[in-house]
Amino acid sequence: MSSNEHVPVLLGPVLDGLDIKKDGCYVDGTFGRGGHSGEILKRLNSDGRLIGIDRDPDAIASAPQSLTDDPRFELIRGESAQLKKLIEERHLNKQVDGLIFDLGVSSPQLDEAHRGFSFLRDGPLDMRMDPDSGTSASDFLQHVEQKKLIRILRQFGEETHASRIARAICDARVVAPIASTGQLAAIVENAVPAKVRAQKKHPATKTFQAIRIAINGELEQLEALLNQSVDVLKEGGRLCVISFHSLEDRMVKRFIRNTSSEPEQYRGMPTMPDEFRPKLKAIGKVIVANDEETTSNRRARSARLRIAERT
Ligand SMILES: C[S@@+](CC[C@H](N)C(=O)[O-])C[C@H]1O[C@@H](n2cnc3c(N)ncnc32)[C@H](O)[C@@H]1O
Repeated sequence: MSSNEHVPVLLGPVLDGLDIKKDGCYVDGTFGRGGHSGEILKRLNSDGRLIGIDRDPDAIASAPQSLTDDPRFELIRGESAQLKKLIEERHLNKQVDGLIFDLGVSSPQLDEAHRGFSFLRDGPLDMRMDPDSGTSASDFLQHVEQKKLIRILRQFGEETHASRIARAICDARVVAPIASTGQLAAIVENAVPAKVRAQKKHPATKTFQAIRIAINGELEQLEALLNQSVDVLKEGGRLCVISFHSLEDRMVKRFIRNTSSEPEQYRGMPTMPDEFRPKLKAIGKVIVANDEETTSNRRARSARLRIAERT
């Protein structure tokens, strides 16, 4: 696989989950390298429409010409948290037949050292999906309070050695700013107990994940796009979300459960005001990749797909 490729995960289950109508309108809120988009577009007729969104300018610039030349397709550089606004601007409110969000980072983002996402490749410590906005990981680490950093490492990385790692980062930044991924990886490696260093998994895995989630506001983005999904989907429209760690999956699961249940005070009542009616219906249970997919694509190992339908 070249560094510009990304193999879409759970492709079959996503296409089934979207229940694609040939003349439908679909939104891929995490376009990446267009793996899901390309297959959705193949299933649409000339009346169908597909909108791709990505906050990463490299994703937009790398979109295949077969997609960008297609009149049924539009690619937007933006945030999925702006979903409702982007859809309203196109007068498509409540006309969307399906939404797919394949969260997290793409393989090219991880593979290209200059993006600063990977502890395996030395590069500038950036980690922004959109390098034109927000704060780089290096600047963030230079200024974040130690207590806050501990919270972030625990919450977003589920890192058990959060205090040691945060202390080591705060000690190191006094000497010189932590400017490269290699520097950060080495600081973490030296901070954790020897038994953690001996494990197969790189000791900086969770720290990198936690900092990436924090500086890209990934959980805030997820909360916003979930809330807005019910406003843009038409009745019977489908929501598909693939998440890669338990925090995200818990948020998606809770959102679908809360949005698909009747408020207690109206349970069993003959009538209910419209605004209290459940807006979603869960479709099946969580879907994970089969052995064949996890063997051929490592990223698929932690992928969890949840599907819901707008009522
Ligand atoms: C896992 S990749 C998606 C891969 C894509 N499904 C494919 O098959 O090629 C995630 C992509 O979504 C983008 N992304 C993540 N969160 C986003 C958000 N809140 N708004 C817009 N783009 C986002 C990332 O920049 C990345 O390119």
